[in-house]
Amino acid sequence: MRILLGVSGGIAAYKAVLLLRLLREAGHAVRVIPTPTALRFVGAPTWEALSGEPVSTDVFDDVEHVQHVALGQGADLVVVAPATADLLARAAAGRADDLLTSTLLTVHCPVVMAPAMHTEMWAHPATVANVATLRARGVHVIDPASGRLTGRDSGPGRLPEPEDIAREALAVAERARVPQDLAGRRVVVSAGGTREPLDPVRWIGNRSTGRQGIALAQAARDRGAEVVLVAANLEAQGASQCADRVVPVESTAQLRDAVRAAAAEADVVVMAAAVADFRPASPSEAKLKKTPGQGPAPIELVENPDVLAELVRERLRPGQVVVGFAAETGDVSAGVLEHGRAKAVRKGADLLAVNAVGDGRGFGTPDNEVWVLDAAGDQVAYARGTKRQVADVLWDAVAKVLGR
Ligand SMILES: Cc1cc2nc3c(=O)[nH]c(=O)nc-3n(C[C@H](O)[C@H](O)[C@H](O)COP(=O)(O)O)c2cc1C
Repeated sequence: MRILLGVSGGIAAYKAVLLLRLLREAGHAVRVIPTPTALRFVGAPTWEALSGEPVSTDVFDDVEHVQHVALGQGADLVVVAPATADLLARAAAGRADDLLTSTLLTVHCPVVMAPAMHTEMWAHPATVANVATLRARGVHVIDPASGRLTGRDSGPGRLPEPEDIAREALAVAERARVPQDLAGRRVVVSAGGTREPLDPVRWIGNRSTGRQGIALAQAARDRGAEVVLVAANLEAQGASQCADRVVPVESTAQLRDAVRAAAAEADVVVMAAAVADFRPASPSEAKLKKTPGQGPAPIELVENPDVLAELVRERLRPGQVVVGFAAETGDVSAGVLEHGRAKAVRKGADLLAVNAVGDGRGFGTPDNEVWVLDAAGDQVAYARGTKRQVADVLWDAVAKVLGR
């Protein structure tokens, strides 16, 4: 990507040096546009040496290239960090009195601003109004962190860490590239694997880590959906960032309650969690002990409710699209796809994503292979690749069903 890094004249300008490094190390071309005041905090040679590009602050530099237009039109992302109270005010007013603010008026790409200033400046009604104006225009303004400020005092107004700014800014750019075909849709994704207690310390569970479910939630969110993640014992990272709301659950009974509560409001429910078919009939309240001389006690199992089948049968919201996942290993009687087809017809979900598991496939791996079948068992899509790629193929199929 071609990134413009705007730096305005706050004490935190030195942190933008680290941000520049991070963006360069992530493989992006970065042109730094400091304000004249910013150069009083960190000099042009630092920006030029670390970016490998020239630095100017004035529209009258390099006039033959009409820099503010060329830079703005060629950018894929603009990050302004730190954004001073003054820079926010000038941008909100549409001023164009230096190269940075002039360029901000010519860009078509996403703009991310990371304000940093004293708490009083941040809380001042003028700054609050300027931030609201910028946000209303689509600028992504990152809330400042709370902590130590320039002097001895501390409070909200601190520039977030460069790693956090880089992550958020790149995510904004990524989202801008993704179609917003789920905008305004409410989506529930269940992820992970349920645990059925045997006693307070032991359970019967499965190998699902939640990686595919998290990728599904993230993809839906990137495409504009409001996402509830019902998280069953996740081992994979990233749950808090991928959803608007995360509901942690442990057992199938808890998962069922959480999914049904969220599904009452949802346009789409994707059951990606591995849900136990059976649970111990009577889990012990105390830890089970080994009795010398006696063998292991048998574990009696009872059947769990079929959460997916219930959702299909009851359609908790009219027009709701219900998507199931079927992890299949194949056996002597049939292959993965044959089992998947039979299940698609039996379950009646709008879509069933069938994936091959076992032999190191499926669980906890970065990649997945999925056949997407409709309720008649006919294949409507196939995906092989990262779990994120698989998620996007599945959402393409969901978007088609929603569009009908
Ligand atoms: C030591 C020092 C630190 C400053 N730190 C900040 C700051 O963190 N945030 C801010 O909004 N202004 C800060 N200012 C004030 C700005 O430098 C001043 O408003 C300037 O006009 C900003 O210009 P610019 O927005 O064009 O870069 C600071 C000033 C000084 C002298």
